[in-house]
Amino acid sequence: MLAELACFEQKCHATFPLTDAIYNCTRCGGLLEVRFSGNPGDPEALRKSWRERRMSNQPIDQSGVWRYRELLPFDGFSDKAVTLREGNTPLLDGPRAAEYGGLDGLTFKHQGYNPTGSFKDNGMTCGVTQAIRLGKNRVACVSTGNTSASMAAYASAAGLDPIVFIPHGNISYGKLAQALEYGARTLQVEANFDQILALVRELAERAGIYLLNSINPFRIEGQKSIIFEMLDARDWNPPDWIVLPGGNLGNTSAFGKALRELKQFGLIQKTPRLAVVQAEGAAPFYEFLKRRGEFHSVPEPQTLATAIKIGDPVSWPKALQEISESNGVVEKVSEQEIADAKAIIGRCGIGCEPASAATLAGIRKLTASAVIRRDADVVAVLTGNVLKDPDYIYKYHTGQLKDPENKSIQSRFGNKPVVVPNDAAAILKILEA
Ligand code: F0G
Repeated sequence: MLAELACFEQKCHATFPLTDAIYNCTRCGGLLEVRFSGNPGDPEALRKSWRERRMSNQPIDQSGVWRYRELLPFDGFSDKAVTLREGNTPLLDGPRAAEYGGLDGLTFKHQGYNPTGSFKDNGMTCGVTQAIRLGKNRVACVSTGNTSASMAAYASAAGLDPIVFIPHGNISYGKLAQALEYGARTLQVEANFDQILALVRELAERAGIYLLNSINPFRIEGQKSIIFEMLDARDWNPPDWIVLPGGNLGNTSAFGKALRELKQFGLIQKTPRLAVVQAEGAAPFYEFLKRRGEFHSVPEPQTLATAIKIGDPVSWPKALQEISESNGVVEKVSEQEIADAKAIIGRCGIGCEPASAATLAGIRKLTASAVIRRDADVVAVLTGNVLKDPDYIYKYHTGQLKDPENKSIQSRFGNKPVVVPNDAAAILKILEA
């Protein structure tokens, strides 16, 4: 299909070639998105070819992103894709989580099974491939941790120079460790995510570095594949609801765009509703939809789910459109609710990082308020791997977790390790107690 960059603003709609290294409309400053013209082909033939590629040994066929290349803006360039075999993430049933969430059944799409342990890999494979297409050799991002881990891996795999900016002291060690191990130049800035984004945009402009935050439309294109793969695995049967956490709202934009395109190209008939869940202390999108009027950022966002500790989400205009188009909803959840939901997901043998657990906490509230029906067909997207933030887990299970206001979070589903003597009889006594 032919593709170009287009301004997202209704009143502007300026267009630009795919090879312009820009992140905002140069005419009005609006967000950019990829717009396709034409048709990718017969839906049945596409479905068949995507299924057959799973049997192939070609790297781009093995990728759960590039397998769907007919719906990506890389015509004639996908053989140069930088892939670590991202995607291919499972749909997992969580009966205990369903019960906790007030549902008859619940499926998780677990993006934590990705090469660097988060959904960012789906977008980064496209972002870094675009950097190669543009001939850039330095790439940068600001991150609450997962974007930096992913960018570091993909840029290094492609022989590029990754530069990572992170809010000092506000990302988990698991994620920081990945950026270091994958060889990114790592700069810890004494500021929050939103403040650093402004800084990095200026630096990218001045030094000609390619910016790989989710404002980059090629990342959004890659993240559409989370939906393609979810529906492929369900034999193109859309669920009633897709639930996801919301931070910078890139994923919300990507999911909505994917669903609109699938419908437009005849691959699905019905659009699932999106439910976006934010942490109470970082919920500007929730507050905006509740009150409408102007969008107000949260100057000092607070949450232990550091991945979604974002007060000024850049993609909110796109996310707003996707929530309206899908007849979606936005919910917010407390620190205690996130922590408990996370422990329940763990007990399903699945596990995830704190931000991902906002999904189940949100589902529980949305079923209680009868927005989601008990018998609804729901897929929750777990965005990050359980090992991203082990410190949080240990503190929760041992009753030491404190919320950002230093109030204790109750260890309602805690599982404390027990110290025992090196003595079989004593251990048997404990096991039988
Ligand atoms: N879940 C996880 C695990 C994340 O890392 C993020 C975002 C989100 C949810 C929210 O997604 O921004 O598309 O609404 N992490 C970014 C980062 C901001 O820098 O890694 P979103």
